[in-house]
Amino acid sequence: MKPFAESSEQNKEPILDILKIEFEGRLRVLEVGSGTGQHAVYFAEKLPRLHWTCSDLEENHAGIRMWLNEAGHDNIAGPLLLDAREDWPPLAFDAVFSANTFHIMSWAGVQGMVRNTGKILSPGSKFCLYGPFMYDGKHTAESNAHFDSCLKNHDPLSGVRDVSELRTLMQQQNMELARDYEMPVNNRILIWEKHDG
Ligand SMILES: C[S@@+](CC[C@H](N)C(=O)[O-])C[C@H]1O[C@@H](n2cnc3c(N)ncnc32)[C@H](O)[C@@H]1O
Repeated sequence: MKPFAESSEQNKEPILDILKIEFEGRLRVLEVGSGTGQHAVYFAEKLPRLHWTCSDLEENHAGIRMWLNEAGHDNIAGPLLLDAREDWPPLAFDAVFSANTFHIMSWAGVQGMVRNTGKILSPGSKFCLYGPFMYDGKHTAESNAHFDSCLKNHDPLSGVRDVSELRTLMQQQNMELARDYEMPVNNRILIWEKHDG
């Protein structure tokens, strides 16, 4: 049976509204941490000018393949095996998308993902990051603080990340926060743009 994430069903529509603006045109998009593959199938169907490539750890590949095979869209590829903690092979993409990954992976994973993303994106291209975030050490809602505690109880290396720490990391790869969208249930979409070095 195909894996199913209720959260992806809930957030796909509001995320699509932002992608329509930010990923306009004929772009090759790499998704990191595709999870079930639901987002990929939905966004590739609704934005047919995009070419969407899924990736994740090996453990999620079978589930992603089930979603991709059933949908049968010709503008989706993958899943690639990309672990944020490792160096990725040379890749050519115009944009990167990732949802609900930075609070799941360790800080070493976050650092690796930013480093790898910085390498594959050329100046002017975008990294679209969806999820809950903190600002200057503060959560944006009590429910996010509770979520953060639950994450850390389960895995002390995980946790909701702070935008100011991400800014520092991104700047090392010439990426700046271009836009910050408020999303339902205390989530955000952060658009990082790559600049010339
Ligand atoms: C909460 S799920 C989100 C899945 C999907 N993006 C969504 O929004 O439904 C977190 C995802 O991050 C992936 N992930 C965790 N650590 C990773 C790593 N080191 N490198 C790449 N992906 C990772 C997991 O395999 C999982 O698919």
